[in-house]
Amino acid sequence: MADKNVVITGAGGFVAGGVVLQAPGHWTAHAVSRGPAPVARPGLVWHTVDAGAPGRLAAAIRDLRPDAVIHTVANPNIDYCETHRDEVVWVNVELAREVAGAAEAVGAKLVHCSTDNVFDGRRGMYREDDDPGPVNFYGLTKLRAEEAVLAECPGAVIARVAIVMGLPLLGKGAPFLVRMANAVAEGRKIVTPSNEVRTPVDLISLGRALIELAENDFAGVIHLGGSQRIDRVGMMRLIAPRMGVDPALVEPGPADNLPAPRPPDCSLDNMLAQRVLKTSLPGILGGLERVLAFRDGRPER
Ligand SMILES: NC(=O)c1ccc[n+]([C@@H]2O[C@H](COP(=O)([O-])OP(=O)(O)OC[C@H]3O[C@@H](n4cnc5c(N)ncnc54)[C@H](OP(=O)(O)O)[C@@H]3O)[C@@H](O)[C@H]2O)c1
Repeated sequence: MADKNVVITGAGGFVAGGVVLQAPGHWTAHAVSRGPAPVARPGLVWHTVDAGAPGRLAAAIRDLRPDAVIHTVANPNIDYCETHRDEVVWVNVELAREVAGAAEAVGAKLVHCSTDNVFDGRRGMYREDDDPGPVNFYGLTKLRAEEAVLAECPGAVIARVAIVMGLPLLGKGAPFLVRMANAVAEGRKIVTPSNEVRTPVDLISLGRALIELAENDFAGVIHLGGSQRIDRVGMMRLIAPRMGVDPALVEPGPADNLPAPRPPDCSLDNMLAQRVLKTSLPGILGGLERVLAFRDGRPER
């Protein structure tokens, strides 16, 4: 018998898939998306709502009166954000403010997804109380959203998420595991810049962590990164054999000439999360194992 109503916004997105498909049996998971339901399962109620229209998502939350809201909606495309500033301020900042106001109004616990890109990346292994200093417009919108969310809903969780390693579960997403699989199929080399250091988190552990945060008493900022600090080349080479790729096909390349600057090292210290959560946040191979086990419907090794 379901005893908790939880709204998941941006339900058709990549990160939301890890929540929607792992929602516990005692939840009625209200998945709110602009698109139609890609899947039907017990306990899942899909709501097609034009979240891009001001007031619609907030109205849906007020109508549903959930116990918790997991807000994943954003435009996470770093280069698009840099070049479409007015457009993304609405979805990344103002919509988050609206959702936070609605969550506060109905007494729902809000878990808001933020990013490691709030940091400038000059040092790495950032803790929750380190000063943010975004170097790109995406990071700036996400920082403004954090501030707006906490102003509207002081008991909210700000979950700063590291780069996510996963496969699309409900459809959307252009995760690097897919790019790697495509490169293998086409016999291409994988050239990736070696100048970005991160603490990748796998989609399955991230989904579990967000679910826990929607249910427990934690409030405030928390870093959800994996337990391994690594650059992109190292990460791809570690993953390669498990994806059927010769690691020699992964080559370091120059930093891409992209519209938005990247923080060089925005790795996250996940000590707080490891203390607060029952879900462990593994390193690259442990996380990959969770992703592949989930895809294949088998227990993790
Ligand atoms: N992926 C990562 O590596 C990563 C890393 C750090 C932080 N994050 C954060 O995690 C959250 C989810 O990211 P994601 O990778 O899952 O992104 P995603 O796959 O692009 O999903 C975001 C969802 O937001 C909704 N959305 C986007 N633009 C919208 C608009 N203009 N109006 C209304 N709804 C809109 C869409 O949901 P519907 O299609 O269902 O309407 C979209 O699927 C974001 O807050 C992002 O900043 C992601």
